Amino acid sequence: ESYETIRIERKGRTALLTLDRPKSLNALNLQVMNEIVAATADLDRDPGIGCIVLTGSPKAFAAGADIKEMRPQSYMDMYLSDWFTAWDRLGALRTPTVAAVSGYALGGGCELAMLCDILLAADTAVFGQPEIKLGVIPGIGGSQRLTRAVGKAKAMEMCLTGRTMDADEAERAGLVSRVVPAGDLVGEALAVAETVAGMSLPVAMMAKEAVSRAFETTLAEGVRFERRLFHAVFATADQKEGMAAFVEKRQPGFTHS
Ligand code: HXC
Repeated sequence: ESYETIRIERKGRTALLTLDRPKSLNALNLQVMNEIVAATADLDRDPGIGCIVLTGSPKAFAAGADIKEMRPQSYMDMYLSDWFTAWDRLGALRTPTVAAVSGYALGGGCELAMLCDILLAADTAVFGQPEIKLGVIPGIGGSQRLTRAVGKAKAMEMCLTGRTMDADEAERAGLVSRVVPAGDLVGEALAVAETVAGMSLPVAMMAKEAVSRAFETTLAEGVRFERRLFHAVFATADQKEGMAAFVEKRQPGFTHS
């Protein structure tokens, strides 16, 4: 398919999705949302893809939901169109995702990054939930995911004052896994994606499912859930291959089955 606001490149078992609406700093209007959701759903259905990288431009990962589009909306418009609900499908993908953030990740942009499984930041990254300055609040899960990622102290301050975090603070706070020089960001993200995509796809999906569960349930239930998946990986050919390769001192050749 051809998209107008994003670009998709496939490289082996990885896919790179680049937001491409430079005139508005990748503001997330409904078209961008629908294109990201459709493109990632296609990639998710493709067993030849083992990891998806989402990135923006050097200046902006995404400067938020599109303020010009939201401005005239009424409560009934928002309610009846179930505004922003399609983003849930991004969080529900089974294929692991990596957000490679450089420049602004504000409002919906920060929320989009937090919908991804691994978050890598360039040293130029700026994270924030400045919605309050516009008279609104986060609407794509920011008040929940930011709080789970960085804790109440920082999340409250950011959501109530609109204060942003730079890349180093985001790393210290646990929002991002790593900070890399801006010029290396996409290369590093693709390298991480290639590593993930080289693992067994079903096992990577189960690892993602297990970690994601930690956001949704109690420790005891989460551990039980993990135990079931742990038992299940012994039904894969890739478990046999991975352990055989270790014993035979060679690289595993996973068949994603
Ligand atoms: C629509 C946007 C936009 C946005 C930037 N633009 N962000 N358009 N929605 N979120 C547009 C500007 O209007 C401008 O268009 C062009 O992009 C370049 O932006 P500038 O402001 O000129 O760039 P700069 O001076 O470098 O400032 C960058 C910036 C600033 C600090 C990121 O653009 C900014 O503060 N943007 C808004 C950030 C924000 O509040 N995000 C949260 C949105 S609410 P023109 O046509 O003038 O050239 C949100 C809510 C989620 O995400 C859920 C709520 C229900």
